[in-house]
Amino acid sequence: MSVRDDVLLFLEKNKGQSVSGEELAKTLYVSRNAVWKAVKALQADGYPITAVTNRGYCLARESEIFSAQSVLRELGAAGEDFHIETADSVTSTNTVLKERAAKGAPEGTVLIAARQTAGKGRQGRQFSSPEGTGLYMSILLRPTMQAQEALFLTTAAAVAVSASVEEVSGRKTGIKWVNDVWIDGLKICGILTEASFDLEGGGLEYAVVGIGVNLTEPKGGFPEELRGVAGAVFSPGEDTIGAKSRLAAGILRRFWEYYRALPQRVFWEEYCRRSVVVGREITILGTDPQPARAIGIDEECRLRVRLSDGSERLLSSGEVSVRPKL
Ligand code: BTN
Repeated sequence: MSVRDDVLLFLEKNKGQSVSGEELAKTLYVSRNAVWKAVKALQADGYPITAVTNRGYCLARESEIFSAQSVLRELGAAGEDFHIETADSVTSTNTVLKERAAKGAPEGTVLIAARQTAGKGRQGRQFSSPEGTGLYMSILLRPTMQAQEALFLTTAAAVAVSASVEEVSGRKTGIKWVNDVWIDGLKICGILTEASFDLEGGGLEYAVVGIGVNLTEPKGGFPEELRGVAGAVFSPGEDTIGAKSRLAAGILRRFWEYYRALPQRVFWEEYCRRSVVVGREITILGTDPQPARAIGIDEECRLRVRLSDGSERLLSSGEVSVRPKL
């Protein structure tokens, strides 16, 4: 990290309090002049930092600028597991992180962009990613696991998002099988996991878990094709100060906990509890749509359904998509 980034992290961790230039210089092993220059650069970037003689520097408590440091502050000690980078605009955080992975970037590298010009959704769809209204984040993993285990990365991420959105917004969320997070019947988050396989060993070389959360509705509303389908975590005019940093940190912390114990499926109970599909009449979509009742989720996260003839089936994620009748 540069002196600028180190100073910002220190001020973020002491937000609303004055920190002397001397203390900053000592802690960061740099000169007071280097601290002063870093503060000037941060102020030029728009950070509300006041400098008061004999008291030092203070980052305003209500500072809302999203940065790697504001996420690290929220993460506390858990931040040591991550290398967080932010960008104003990228094609897709997944695409950029995959390129970085191919060049050897370490596990725990996280890329968060303010907007994506070519955000990717599942099944080759686009993911609308306008500036300033969403959290667009990808996490690089280098797991030692067989390829089929990678499916559970997405499931674990869905549980992490669902719980973190509730914590930050106070709104009730649910998971629509397989991995969409919903509020009031509208999709507020999509997750796309992409992986590179080691063809000889059958394992994973790396995986990139991409998470897109709609924080607020874009100006002018969602694009036509998403109306009545997509929703946002916050309503217009709601206080969202610091929410994006808290949400990113909450997701990373929970996801990491689940990821570390992926074979034990520690997220599974939460996944079942949060399902908005189980117990409902659903339509199994496909070439021949069928009505059914969702009756449970097994330990492999497959959906157990009862068809109208009374027979039961287990649905795998790749096989079908379901639509609950609300
Ligand atoms: C879906 O629901 O179809 C999945 C959407 C995944 C969107 C996220 S946003 C961050 C990451 N970068 C991308 O291009 N896609 C994922």
